[in-house]
Amino acid sequence: MTGTWLHGLEDRARAALPAPVFEYVGQGARESVSTREAPAAWQGLRFAPHVLRDVTDVDPGVDLLGRRSLVPWGIAPTTLQRAVHPDGELAVARATAAAGGVMVVSSNAGTSFAAIGATGVRWWLQAYLPSDRTLAEPMLDRAVAAGAEAVVLTVDTPVVATKYVVGEPVWDTVQDGLLRVNFDPGYDERPGAEKATDLGPHDLDWLAERTGLPVVVKGVLRSDDARRCVDAGASAVWVSNHGGRQLDRARSTATQLPEVVAEVGDDAEVYADGGIRNGLDVLAALALGARGVFLGRPALWALADGEQGVARLHRDLRDEVVEALRLAGCRVPADAPSLLGRDDVPPL
Ligand SMILES: Cc1cc2nc3c(=O)[nH]c(=O)nc-3n(C[C@H](O)[C@H](O)[C@H](O)COP(=O)(O)O)c2cc1C
Repeated sequence: MTGTWLHGLEDRARAALPAPVFEYVGQGARESVSTREAPAAWQGLRFAPHVLRDVTDVDPGVDLLGRRSLVPWGIAPTTLQRAVHPDGELAVARATAAAGGVMVVSSNAGTSFAAIGATGVRWWLQAYLPSDRTLAEPMLDRAVAAGAEAVVLTVDTPVVATKYVVGEPVWDTVQDGLLRVNFDPGYDERPGAEKATDLGPHDLDWLAERTGLPVVVKGVLRSDDARRCVDAGASAVWVSNHGGRQLDRARSTATQLPEVVAEVGDDAEVYADGGIRNGLDVLAALALGARGVFLGRPALWALADGEQGVARLHRDLRDEVVEALRLAGCRVPADAPSLLGRDDVPPL
């Protein structure tokens, strides 16, 4: 029955969450074309399963940046987790620690990095860089001090894309203190705090130097950009269109993942997110060569039920991924690329 619970996740969150919060979580940019297409793109892939293979012992774990994750997914960075549930990032952190996975914490987080680190979760910092890079330094230093193991630079957001809000905008409903608590007070009013429109490969160097951490680049959709990231020292490239919340009509990640894997897969880890909703979607991404995947909205919908909701998300998804691997004749995620040809690109 695990599929039933995961399948109903969004509908239960719709019933449980205040309308503006639910709308914020689900929304895409403009007409939400990319947001809508994402799950369908994974569903468009077809497997050629192996048989006559011993799938008694299946291990869904993967190495992410040199450390074992017990599951081949992590939690993507999302803003306003404490508007979804008062425990916010702490609930996600505790449940993800228990699942043996990785949590990526938004630099917009409403919970202190120190408190997140204290849960014992393995976590990476997601950073947006401001025009004046020096304004980000205290936030980066706090993340390093709180045990962040990597810094994920989001590169698809030179401006926040327009969203068509139907009901009351979430920003009119949330209390103070749910946003950017890891920055210096008054950060948003400082000149130079707006998002950088001049990000370049040199920023990877700067981040690596400042933090001493591996750098992951999130928001890449093209092989030429992936190559530039790796040449600039990125340890991993994260194929993402921001859940369709930035450039609407951007191609789906399922469509773009193969060319990125073909270009840099031997030199760096490649991750993917966007529209991953169940174990078969995870298998499809692994089959296209992703080292791991990340979940945005599903984690927030599950968080509507607090830590226990996120714990169940991890548990049920693990069951689904193990079942999918077994049915496909794969013992480990690294067996999955043989399920598809390299040129097997979904239709969207
Ligand atoms: C409500 C919401 C807030 C988000 N906030 C951030 C953020 O602060 N930083 C970031 O890099 N990406 C952010 N994202 C994008 C996610 O990290 C991820 O790329 C996307 O949600 C994946 O698609 P999915 O929601 O279909 O799983 C956000 C996504 C959502 C849904």
